[in-house]
Amino acid sequence: MGHPGSLLQLRGMSEEALRGLLGRAREIATGTGQAAKQEEKLVACVFLEDSTRTRVSFAVAAGRLGARVVEVQSSNSSVRKGESLADTVRTVESLGADAIVLRASGSGSSHAAARAVGVPVINAGDGRHEHPTQGLIDCLTLCEAKGREDFDLRGVRIAIVGDVVSSRVARSAIAGMTALGAGVVCVGPATMAPDGLAALGCEVSRDFDAVVGDVDAVMMLRVQFERHGNGDGHGAHGKAGEGGQDARADRPPAAPIGSVREFRAGYGLTAERAARMREGAVVMHPGPMNRGLEIDGEVADGARSLVRRQVALGVAVRMAVIGRALQSKAGAGT
Ligand code: CP
Repeated sequence: MGHPGSLLQLRGMSEEALRGLLGRAREIATGTGQAAKQEEKLVACVFLEDSTRTRVSFAVAAGRLGARVVEVQSSNSSVRKGESLADTVRTVESLGADAIVLRASGSGSSHAAARAVGVPVINAGDGRHEHPTQGLIDCLTLCEAKGREDFDLRGVRIAIVGDVVSSRVARSAIAGMTALGAGVVCVGPATMAPDGLAALGCEVSRDFDAVVGDVDAVMMLRVQFERHGNGDGHGAHGKAGEGGQDARADRPPAAPIGSVREFRAGYGLTAERAARMREGAVVMHPGPMNRGLEIDGEVADGARSLVRRQVALGVAVRMAVIGRALQSKAGAGT
């Protein structure tokens, strides 16, 4: 479906394609491989939901490839007048975009956009569905930290903790990391880490204290207060199901945590909990962080933390993904 250069999700991606993208990103990050210049190309970054690191790193990545970048944001575009997602991306395509990077609050928006246009669409996060470039960053960061140069994560166990049900990052990370052989355990209260997550190929636990000393990495997730209770409702592009990837079955209840204090006590990566992690175990967080809620500031900034490395690797990963998109030909298949 759509252009073969699109990247809509990691779930279902072949191991070969996954390792290929990670390898390309590592070459770029380490300076061991040249990225082909894309000087005649135009990349449209359509961000219909707030973002700092994804939006900026896509723009930096496209710029490093020599491509021109045009940014569309909901705050100053015709989206505010009610223009549909399909009409928005078709308009950008008609204006000459060679690839479209899309962030939108509707789960499956990237699939809907990919069906509407003939150029590659890169999913920069769509509702609760997936955030595949963040998933690639998290896989690359974990492989680098564990010295897995072959991108083989067998024997590595990672806990993904907190508001899993709201998290497109978690879905992409679970897909990517399990495909590379890692063991993944999702940890949280039943309202945030329901047993049904096991269908994604991970374990599910309610007991962070039992898990924290038994894993090689802990990736904390932001508690997404804005997604609790009202589904994907964020204006014209906020309706789940536009792309047939409706996540309503996973929608958390209106009050998934009793209180901030209760959540932190059970599921926060406090300094005391982090001290019980294995020697060499690492801390990750895709950001943005709620310091003092899901993670203590001293842990986020501590010796185990890879948070800033995750952000830094975002440019190389997005250069690899944009490069793949711009080099692929419609109908060529990948
Ligand atoms: N990790 C992530 O998607 O962050 P932003 O929302 O700042 O892009």
